Amino acid sequence: MNYAEAKKMLDKCGQGHVLAWWNKLSKKGQNALIEQVGKIDPKSLAYCQKALKAGTTAIDNSKGKAPKVAVLKGKKLADAVALGEKELKAGRVAALLVAGGQGSRLGYDGPKGCYSIGPITGAPLFYFHARKILARTIRYGRTIPFYVMTSEANNEATIRCFEENEYFGLNPKDVFFFTQGMWPGMTQDGKIIMDAPGHVFMSPDGHGGLLAALKRSGALADMKKRGIRSVFFFQVDNPLVEIADPAFIGYHVANKSEYSLKLCAKRDPYEKVGMPMQFGKTFRMVEYTEMTKEQCERKGRDGKLYFLYGSPAIHVFDRAFLEREAGKPMPLHLAFKKIPFVDAKGKVVKPSEPNGYKFEKFIFDVLPNARRAAFLAFEQKDEFSPVKNAEGDDSPATCKADMQAKWRRWLAEAGVAVKAGVPVEIDPAYALDAADIKSIGIALGAE
Ligand code: UTP
Repeated sequence: MNYAEAKKMLDKCGQGHVLAWWNKLSKKGQNALIEQVGKIDPKSLAYCQKALKAGTTAIDNSKGKAPKVAVLKGKKLADAVALGEKELKAGRVAALLVAGGQGSRLGYDGPKGCYSIGPITGAPLFYFHARKILARTIRYGRTIPFYVMTSEANNEATIRCFEENEYFGLNPKDVFFFTQGMWPGMTQDGKIIMDAPGHVFMSPDGHGGLLAALKRSGALADMKKRGIRSVFFFQVDNPLVEIADPAFIGYHVANKSEYSLKLCAKRDPYEKVGMPMQFGKTFRMVEYTEMTKEQCERKGRDGKLYFLYGSPAIHVFDRAFLEREAGKPMPLHLAFKKIPFVDAKGKVVKPSEPNGYKFEKFIFDVLPNARRAAFLAFEQKDEFSPVKNAEGDDSPATCKADMQAKWRRWLAEAGVAVKAGVPVEIDPAYALDAADIKSIGIALGAE
């Protein structure tokens, strides 16, 4: 793209102001701006403007019902595990991590996956994910390819972190990095926001950007070539997640599900988690902000919360379903934020109040399109403790405490007593569960 082409495209979209400072930019600045404009798809601009006009319309979810959620025990659990192990041994399982977020609440300057969380070693979040994948690969004798979605802002640093740590033991050929899309920020009247005279403000297009990015990058084609059928999806900030857990994979396969969700009981009626609801034959994720007080507090016949189970974004997708959905447009969610902008004099202003919109797609918006969906309950304390905030709830301190409590439960089950207050950390490639510790413990005892 050259200046004339950029001008033509921007004028046609009513965004001519993007080039307002052109004559004041250095040659390098001009080239950088043209490169940035070249990446903006006019169709996506129109899509954002349409979303702005439509605004956030409240969807009526008063007819929503709680979905049937399975709690697996005994033979049912053993059957699901066996089926999941069969899928893993056949090499049909992939791990898919969304790590393109900005982690603004944590306030960490870098990819969140590089954030140090190991209570003793200070190992980064990526370490725990990668080592679990390595452990399952070793246990089942087949590769679990690892697909990692980054954003333009953190892609390089993410790859560097893997390289510096020798891919945490994984084979680099089985780790596939791909970047999600970016949308420009806009004012209420649909004008692109410039955050410097030669720079458009852009932000990642949300974890729902995953679908388009999987297709664009060739990751979906790579999965197909490798014979992948079940794709385990997880988020970067939860080191407790049991990646490619055979029970969940098996439950998903047994149900011929296209989109399966692990759900956990809410800690309180107002916990800030999305809630899948059933509407006739389809399901839709209802955000906590869309629920009424009555819905939050409603009790079922068993005296428990009727809408008990929330989603911590742990999913299994059928690869063919991802392929089917990847070409379709997804709804846009608007976030009204404080976005730095260039004023009439060309000065950058940091606003104290929200002034513009970011646009995001959410992966769970494809749930209603699934021909079959399945829901499986799990214990929050075992598998979910995200690092979201710098302090307080869902912070590094609570996460480290939850990680250690889980490892202590495994050690206790294996008959290993650890004094209170002694820090604990277990490399997932050493032990994936209490049974691993038991067998290692027996071996050590026998020496
Ligand atoms: P969050 O919604 O917690 O967002 O992401 P975040 O960007 O990490 O943190 P805040 O809100 O700025 O504090 C949940 C998961 O989705 C990924 C994140 O990396 C995280 O794993 N994500 C989020 C993306 O991959 N891309 C995005 O555009 C947004």
